Amino acid sequence: MRIAAFLICTASVLAFSQQGSAADQPAAGAYSETPQQRDARMKWWREARFGMFVHWGLYSGLAGTWQGKPVGTTGGMEWIQQRVKADTDTYAKEAIPKFKPSADFARGWARLAKQAGCKYLVFTSKHHDGFGLFNSKAGDYNAGHVLHRDLVKEIVEACRAEGLRVGFYHSVIDWHHDQYAYAKSKQLPHPLKGQPYPNGERDHAKYQAYLRQQVDELVSNYGRLDILWWDYSSQDFQGDEAWRAGDLMSLARSKQPGIIMNNRLFRSPEAGWSSMGTAGYIPQLDPKYGDFITPEQHIPATGMPGVDWETCMTMNTTWGYNEHDRAWKSDETLIRNLIDIASKGGNYLLNIGPKGDGSVPEESVKSMRAIGAWMRVNGQSIYATEASPFEKLEWGRCTQRKLNVRTTRLYLHVFGWPKSGQLVLAGLANSPVEAALLAGGQRLQAARGDGGVTIGLPAEAPDKIATVVVLDIAGAPKIVKPAE
Ligand code: GLC
Repeated sequence: MRIAAFLICTASVLAFSQQGSAADQPAAGAYSETPQQRDARMKWWREARFGMFVHWGLYSGLAGTWQGKPVGTTGGMEWIQQRVKADTDTYAKEAIPKFKPSADFARGWARLAKQAGCKYLVFTSKHHDGFGLFNSKAGDYNAGHVLHRDLVKEIVEACRAEGLRVGFYHSVIDWHHDQYAYAKSKQLPHPLKGQPYPNGERDHAKYQAYLRQQVDELVSNYGRLDILWWDYSSQDFQGDEAWRAGDLMSLARSKQPGIIMNNRLFRSPEAGWSSMGTAGYIPQLDPKYGDFITPEQHIPATGMPGVDWETCMTMNTTWGYNEHDRAWKSDETLIRNLIDIASKGGNYLLNIGPKGDGSVPEESVKSMRAIGAWMRVNGQSIYATEASPFEKLEWGRCTQRKLNVRTTRLYLHVFGWPKSGQLVLAGLANSPVEAALLAGGQRLQAARGDGGVTIGLPAEAPDKIATVVVLDIAGAPKIVKPAE
């Protein structure tokens, strides 16, 4: 044991000195795990495929309206404090009276997530506005002090009662703390950006100590925690310099050995980032910087082979509730997004933005239930499946599962029902064993020809959004590209 610890320690010192000085490298804390240990830790998350994201806090009660005026119809309204450029006292005075969680809001979320087929729920323990939903000894800007409730505890318990895994989204950006030195970054948002600190020089180390205490409470006081979803860093302010990231990650790992964390304490290429834009992710991630990459409002065109990733997405255009945002995505779009993501080997973290009382907007309830209805019938084509072996399919998407050494099951998600009545899998060189509709089990004819495998379909699509055809084939999928 001692020798192993020494080796790991020496190795990280060496790696560190090769990489350069602390100033130009975001450090990531001690990380040692074999690939097998990592696979075991990531297993449930990789199989889950679908989670519910919840943005909820003081901004939710404001609902996109500031002092009687609508702030906008699109964009992240959890940023309302920044959008109206309010200092924290003005914001708190407006928002606190409107944030009135009902007695059992948390059960409503957890039940909805379960009904939708989500396997995990990630919610905002604190967003950029700095208001914590937990009862914290680090300061008084939190639900414990203001509402005499520990909302984090209520949510965690409700999730556990439904058998859901739980994660905390925790913002490292903080628009409340009076020592948070926002002038250190030109890229991170702050309502007072460009203005001198109203309270004289700031000591950012004091903010870092406060953040550490919050994280310590979050990983210590709520039983098993499955995910820490950090948010977020910039190229000019990240990692150890900004958040003492390595220390936060080590703390979380020491108290929660199974924890899964995203890569947003960093914004560097080795942590999976190429730029500041929401599409600025790249398919590489050294696990010491986090476990997964977080494409925001995007589905990577061809997935990210070999890297764990999760697309987070809103149902309209905002994360936090905005009563003026009517741009709801259709059930068809949401269900097809989930399928598209699974076919590329990723997870879908789909957001709801509850109102100030914790109730979920009707449109989101309706869509989550529609996804759930589809998943109850077709869930086996999503959970614990692997990415499609095909580069592209004109009519839809595919996921796969190895049934045994001899047989692979392909799930064919048909979006565009072929008028010819024939579903063509161009280039598939395996022999079909059996084909059927997943819903209802009707057998279908499948035949292998020169150009691939063809399956005979009923005249009408049984499910207009996505009908799943199950095709068992002999062996591992072999796709032959047509000669140019
Ligand atoms: C961004 C936004 C934020 C939202 C998050 C979700 O970082 O700042 O409001 O919580 O992304 O991915």
